[in-house]
Amino acid sequence: MIPRHVAYIMDGNGRWAERRGLPRTAGYAEGLKAMLTVLRRTEELGADTATVYAFSAENFARPAEETAAIFSVVKEWCSSYDGDMKVRFIGDLSRIPADVGNEAENLAARTAANGGMQLVIALGYSGREDIVNAARTAAKQGEIDRESFEKALSTRGLPAPDLIVRSGGEKRLSGFMLYEAAYSELLFVDKLWPDMTAEDVDAAFGDFAARTRKFGA
Ligand code: IPE
Ligand code: IPE
Ligand code: MG
Repeated sequence: MIPRHVAYIMDGNGRWAERRGLPRTAGYAEGLKAMLTVLRRTEELGADTATVYAFSAENFARPAEETAAIFSVVKEWCSSYDGDMKVRFIGDLSRIPADVGNEAENLAARTAANGGMQLVIALGYSGREDIVNAARTAAKQGEIDRESFEKALSTRGLPAPDLIVRSGGEKRLSGFMLYEAAYSELLFVDKLWPDMTAEDVDAAFGDFAARTRKFGA
């Protein structure tokens, strides 16, 4: 079985730079290169949706220099992307610098009719915030049930992630897709994100194919 939706928690960029005696900020440009390699392979292997966790709501607590470096990489990529993926954002774009948010929105609009893999970028994202917002929206609309609640989540219309891959060695979700991950297969890779390769994606798909999903039944 091929995962239809693969989500990547791209952790370990700062440590990658530190280990080379570089400022942590140098890790983010390398992280972007790895992201593009990973996404290309994910699409080649047949997934129709990929999500990348690029910046959490809690990451706003990082030093300004670090958040600026991350947003500069995001902005530059958003403004220059001219491929075939269809890009969508989840998270609170109103909290990120306006110039970055504008480029993100432009990118989503510009790629909306593309025919390639759907790419979801989680930026300023918090699974807990998303759940609270969805509860608020669904409550305003009347009765809350699974259907109305799921339509109020930022991930509305997306298949739940079949496989969540976290690099960097930590074994946690850090607020990612807390509702949607209910039956996701989890894979923790002991590699820093900028070191991820196409072969690591092949290995992740191979690992997924060997698992038995039961969904409680
Ligand atoms: C994760 O990389 C990506 C972002 C938070 C933007 P980190 O910056 O957390 O890298 P490590 O985990 O400190 O190495
Ligand atoms: C998770 O990484 C968020 C992203 C990869 C964007 P963190 O580095 O922020 O997570 P913690 O703090 O180690 O849990
Ligand atoms: Mg980290």
